[in-house]
Amino acid sequence: MKGTFPLAKFQALRTPFYYYDTKVLRDTLDTIRTEAGHYEAYAVHYAIKANANPNVLAVIRESGLGVDCVSGGEIRAAVKAGFPASKIVFAGVGKSDWEINLALDHDIFCFNVESIPELEVINMLAAAKGRKARVAFRINPNVGAHTHANITTGLAENKFGISMEDMDRVIDIALGMSNVEFIGLHFHIGSQILDMGDFTALCNRVNELQEKLEARQIRIPYINVGGGLGIDYAHPNRQPVPDFKAYFATYHAHLKLRPYQTLHFELGRSVVGQCGSLIARVLYVKQGTNKQFAILDAGMTDLIRPALYQAYHKIENISSDLPVQTYDVVGPVCESSDVFGKAVDLNGVRRGDFMAIRSAGAYGEIMASVYNCRELPQGYTSDELG
Ligand code: LLP
Repeated sequence: MKGTFPLAKFQALRTPFYYYDTKVLRDTLDTIRTEAGHYEAYAVHYAIKANANPNVLAVIRESGLGVDCVSGGEIRAAVKAGFPASKIVFAGVGKSDWEINLALDHDIFCFNVESIPELEVINMLAAAKGRKARVAFRINPNVGAHTHANITTGLAENKFGISMEDMDRVIDIALGMSNVEFIGLHFHIGSQILDMGDFTALCNRVNELQEKLEARQIRIPYINVGGGLGIDYAHPNRQPVPDFKAYFATYHAHLKLRPYQTLHFELGRSVVGQCGSLIARVLYVKQGTNKQFAILDAGMTDLIRPALYQAYHKIENISSDLPVQTYDVVGPVCESSDVFGKAVDLNGVRRGDFMAIRSAGAYGEIMASVYNCRELPQGYTSDELG
């Protein structure tokens, strides 16, 4: 089964471009609202790093989600898109002074702090403005996620967060500071996680740490468990909306939330991944010695995930119903790793056919580069194309 695309509308557009199906996006957002809505104290932030296309952000903003940012640029994009600063959280191991000042000026909800030196700078900059910054500590829970090594973040060897052993000490330091208010703990174990057992392991760790805090009579109103829910890259048509029911139910079943606490999530990929496709045209079909190549006008500069993470994206020839043949699907960039897929079965390919590289809504357009002096791809929503 192939996805459905407005091919007639595509004719007029310069390829490659990203196409965002807003029906899929809205269905996804509705499901998040319904499933998280079963639990009164749950608050979902959209991890804007996954996709900051303004038209995509506009749809997400309508749904009422907050935002998770990791840079000043992302805070600007979120504010510009109309998200309330009171729903913005700000993480990242290397926050610059201007980024901290920007966040203070907007009075964002919370800084997710990743080191003592960072805490000291936030306290100092907040003091200079006569402000008090709400802070949470990102604790490295040392929980492994069964995902690609480049996108696991919660192990002791990763650069992210503060170790569990240091938790008490950093809390004491924060409690002694006059311009920060310590409100909670933040975690994030990795991305593209499909095994609910990984989230259960995180819940168990959070429960242990909460008991440690309670033993010290420390009450925190805010727990943030990050993002990480994966999508079905192999079957974008069969499962366009990820299993949010199981995801939130896992937290409900395993994380012992206190009555005075809210539980925050930072979902990126699972919100936007399946609504987006990279649309390219076939430039040439080239016969190699033992194989044939479909050479596209899109390359690793437009979608770097296959080259960087050996990520699988389903590829469809949306212009053709010819009998299936096998191709290596490659881009024009001067790098051997500029390959979208090897030995891919596609309906017979001709020059000019439109190809859809599916499940590319997350970490696609936003990670594009101008290497080889290529133009950045445009992004269009189905609303825009009508
Ligand atoms: N919160 C924090 C602190 C994060 O670092 C991330 C992702 C998220 C939330 C959102 O995670 P998600 O729900 O999207 O899994 N470029 C890579 C993924 C990098 C993820 C970085 N952090 C890829 O294309 O697979």
